Amino acid sequence: MACQSDYTCKIGPSILNSDLSILASECQRMLDSGADFLHLDVMDGHFVPNLTFGHPVVKCLRKKITSAFFDMHMMVANPERWIQNMADAGANQYTFHIEATEDPGQCIRKVREAGMKVGIGIKPGTSVDVVMPYVEDVDMVLVMTVEPGFGGQKFMEDMMPKVKALRAKFRSLDIEVDGGLSPTTIDKAAEAGANMIVSGSAVVGSDDPRLVINKMRNCVQDVIQRSQVER
Ligand code: DX5
Ligand code: ZN
Repeated sequence: MACQSDYTCKIGPSILNSDLSILASECQRMLDSGADFLHLDVMDGHFVPNLTFGHPVVKCLRKKITSAFFDMHMMVANPERWIQNMADAGANQYTFHIEATEDPGQCIRKVREAGMKVGIGIKPGTSVDVVMPYVEDVDMVLVMTVEPGFGGQKFMEDMMPKVKALRAKFRSLDIEVDGGLSPTTIDKAAEAGANMIVSGSAVVGSDDPRLVINKMRNCVQDVIQRSQVER
């Protein structure tokens, strides 16, 4: 008999490649298409060679999108600096990169104190072993499947052993993958054990985002169900 699910599939469009001049309506379009959360990419031009937006934009967005879960992907140096600003702006989860801070433990504590969920991310060049000591203290681990900084890059399948290593140890952890996810790459991420799926260009650029979201969700749910029956 199948047991209770340890984790569920959540699909979060990244709005990086959407029409940012109408950010709120692009976010609403994604939610209307079945998105479970919104993945908001913050870049500072230091941690990554690109710039996007910060907490003032998030604050305005929150006024229009009142109830969706905002997963802040903080591709910034010194992530401690923006924790309170993002909490005040209405962010739900603060995902920082372990490479960007000298004290991940303190960063985790500060995010919690600010009342947000905690995500911790690793770039492609960072070993999964680096993040292992912190996993028990966070809500989500983000395994980047492209070099952070730009949408529309190719999915790095060779990151999947990291996802597998995390899933083998943590049955109920939220494991997020970000970069190059689409209906053609989702099976690899799903098989490895990822359950929070970020997808930018494949969803936002599609004529039928609902179909793309459904395809990816079905794939992840199939794997989750199969793994439960096998246990
Ligand atoms: C890249 C960002 C991603 C990006 C994903 O640095 O973190 O969230 O928008 O876009 P796609 O799905 O197009 O790779
Ligand atoms: Zn991202």
